[in-house]
Amino acid sequence: DAVKLWIQQNGATVAGNKVEVILKDDAGTPETTRRLAQELVVNDKVNVLAGFGLTPLALATVPIAAQAKIPEVVMAAATSSITEQSPWVVRAGFTLPQVTVPLADWAAKNNIKKVVTLVTDYGPGIDAETAFKTRFSQAGGQVLAELRVPLRNPDFAPFLQRVRDANPDAVFVFVPSGVGSVFMKQFAERGLDKGGIKLIGTGDVTDDDIMNDMGDVALGVITSFHYSAAHPSPANKAYVDAFRKLNGMRPNFHSLGGYDGMRMIYKALETTKGNTDGEALMNAMKGQSFESPRGPVTIDAATRDPVQNVYMRKVEKVNGELWNVEFATVPNVKDPMHK
Ligand code: PHB
Repeated sequence: DAVKLWIQQNGATVAGNKVEVILKDDAGTPETTRRLAQELVVNDKVNVLAGFGLTPLALATVPIAAQAKIPEVVMAAATSSITEQSPWVVRAGFTLPQVTVPLADWAAKNNIKKVVTLVTDYGPGIDAETAFKTRFSQAGGQVLAELRVPLRNPDFAPFLQRVRDANPDAVFVFVPSGVGSVFMKQFAERGLDKGGIKLIGTGDVTDDDIMNDMGDVALGVITSFHYSAAHPSPANKAYVDAFRKLNGMRPNFHSLGGYDGMRMIYKALETTKGNTDGEALMNAMKGQSFESPRGPVTIDAATRDPVQNVYMRKVEKVNGELWNVEFATVPNVKDPMHK
């Protein structure tokens, strides 16, 4: 929908080229993603491969894009190492270490001394766990336990019991977008919301497009992230209004990755004056700076990752709806693993 919105707003012709988006459903499996990517390259002769909601799907496409020498624009997947796999990968979204470090700093400064980490057991979760533990320990904090929950059909109950037993000041959580509702439900069912253990995490757990259904258990949860639908700027207000008009939903961070990924492709085509050569497009994406609904973004030319503000947010009820309300900004954060 964000890709559709971008084209609605900016037209389907760039530097004399007609832009055509071919949409395929990856079905969430790397094998399907790889096959579809291969077909898009060979049969449809696409100039760019873009999307990728999950890290394994982005990784599955890396060899296809590299062999075809065309850009792979990662709009959503957020494991730090994806962009290291090949010079043909460029990222429009964020990385887990990038948004986790400011939260570790915030926790250490806000009287949180003991933490249990609880993450989904794959790339982005491991990144979040590592970044949190490293930074929080450096700041004098202590991580009592590191819990990893399976990606498929997660049951948080036994892990939440272990959190309760360890009795930390806070539990740090990463779950991929969408899983936040299940997590919050089980968190409340086990009474952890009333037990004096604070819930902190990256903004994936309070994903904007589902958080309104989480109920009051979400109130007061502190997260760090690069995008909130509540970000108070005219550009974001326009984006949220337009997205809602399109499909009735509140846009989340993945939508923004899609929107800005399209922006990066359009901007690149303008720079190359319509030349669709893969290397020319790739070079034109490196170093791009733009004002996004999330705030200012620069695509680091060396790492091909976005450098952007990370915001500290608290879940609050405003006009009867739950929002991630930003209360502090850490400007121009780079992925700490890609310095
Ligand atoms: C992923 O890279 O697989 C990923 C990261 C963050 C999310 C969801 C998926 O919220």
